[in-house]
Amino acid sequence: MRDIDAILTAAPVIPVLVIERLEAAVPIAEALVGGGLPVLEVTLRTPAALDAIRAMKQVRGAIVGAGTVLDPDQLNAAREAGAAFIVSPGLTDRLAVAAIDSGLPFLPGVATASEVMRARDHGFSRLKFFPATASGGLPALRGLAAIFGEMRFCPTGGISADNAAEWLAVPAVSCVGGSWLVPQGVPFDRATIVARARAAAALR
Ligand code: 3PG
Repeated sequence: MRDIDAILTAAPVIPVLVIERLEAAVPIAEALVGGGLPVLEVTLRTPAALDAIRAMKQVRGAIVGAGTVLDPDQLNAAREAGAAFIVSPGLTDRLAVAAIDSGLPFLPGVATASEVMRARDHGFSRLKFFPATASGGLPALRGLAAIFGEMRFCPTGGISADNAAEWLAVPAVSCVGGSWLVPQGVPFDRATIVARARAAAALR
């Protein structure tokens, strides 16, 4: 199993995916991996999400994790589906214990100094900064990074093709996450997704 650092440094961008139609899952994964983005976060926000993880992890080169994991039951369901890593928008004590027990690489969400300290208490040092833009953007992240020197961040929420490079220029940023590569509700278009993935993969 890869550790969380291996996952966060495999590519500069982690596509955050909301998969509504299971049939779209494999083509989306193939397009993203083909474009140079192997790490994929499938959010548990749709009924198709767990089956999408099962299907997408068969795509050669894909490292498929579960996102929007809110509690131990969802974490266990993601683990059973074969998720390679777990992402949460926040952190609860129950989820921290379940994540440690699972042994899976885990990226909990934080937006404030106290939340970073709470994650640190549980032993986590790789954190999703979420929602990145709404929580103060780059100045807020730089402020947290200055205090918590050992922490590394994956900012997500409001990151786009236009501003991803600015975030990636911060030394404490391992990678960024975002939904701009495969926007929800837009019909699948392989060429567009491959082109976006290529541009994202070249960011660092
Ligand atoms: C997430 O789950 O990380 C966010 O919904 C992604 O945020 P974005 O849609 O602003 O990229």
